[in-house]
Amino acid sequence: DGDGPPPLSPLQKLTTDMCKDEKTIKELIIGRRVGFYKVRGEIGYGTFSRVKLAFHALTRDKVALKILDRTRMDPQAQRLLSREIGSMEALQHPNVVRLYEVVETPCRLYLVLEYAGGGDLHNRICSEGKLCDTACKITFAQILAAIKYMHGINIIHRDLKAENILFTCSGCVKVADFGFSTQVSNRSAALDTFCGSPPYAAPELFRDECYLGPQVDVWAMGVLLFFMVTGTMPFRAETMGKLRRCIMDCAYSVPPWVPGPCQRLIRGILKAAPAERCAVDQMLGCDWLLPVEFPWSPLAARPLGPLRGPPESERGSLEDEE
Ligand code: ADE
Repeated sequence: DGDGPPPLSPLQKLTTDMCKDEKTIKELIIGRRVGFYKVRGEIGYGTFSRVKLAFHALTRDKVALKILDRTRMDPQAQRLLSREIGSMEALQHPNVVRLYEVVETPCRLYLVLEYAGGGDLHNRICSEGKLCDTACKITFAQILAAIKYMHGINIIHRDLKAENILFTCSGCVKVADFGFSTQVSNRSAALDTFCGSPPYAAPELFRDECYLGPQVDVWAMGVLLFFMVTGTMPFRAETMGKLRRCIMDCAYSVPPWVPGPCQRLIRGILKAAPAERCAVDQMLGCDWLLPVEFPWSPLAARPLGPLRGPPESERGSLEDEE
């Protein structure tokens, strides 16, 4: 289908070549060690994957190790995985989780990822009820910056949801999980049917449209913004059929207490016709958002809100060792 795996990067090729040698595999995966990384406890899981915390044995840098069981993957899952690796290798942005390296063995694949230890947006909204005005502005501005960057290099995420928006310990946003991502130029991928999570799905995903473009991410951003500001989802229903109807009819209502400029932003994004949705640049220009500058500083970014304690070190300490 013209959608074969992308060529290996020099690093991937090196680790792949190394792993052809049985002896090297044994050296790379020794007990709870993967390459240079010492593996610690589980911090997340997906359908084919688990995520564990790990430390670089020499530098003590923390990483998130996404462990994928290749034996359980069908060809479709393998294809999604090569897309994930291809997309992540291309992405270098302060608001996108970095892929540092890939370690391969016959049964498993280890993605060594930038560690974001501040939890995810879903849990944060669930524990805080909703985000305060300032936190919404800063968080949304950073998600937007990540999406603008991705779309600028023709990558569509296609699974934007609060669970995939992570925070570092100092509160910087990191968009994660590129398992459903695709290149815009990849026509067969653009024709794919359903990707992502139903409550975040754009109306065109339920229609027989032949081209699903970056506007599916823009729609998901509208759902995210609504969720951050109100603590509830714009489209909810007991059955999948009813949810589909709600989304296709654009049947949502923004509570009247939401600040006017934010209400306008939500309404500008959540439009049934993809072409009518607010452009990312237009959203970035909205004066409701707080611009965020890099290098990231929680003090600079939170001029009004209270800080949630001092930023924790992103590095492991000796106490982290057993
Ligand atoms: N869970 C999934 N990916 C993660 C990451 N990069 N950092 C922390 N926790 C995660």
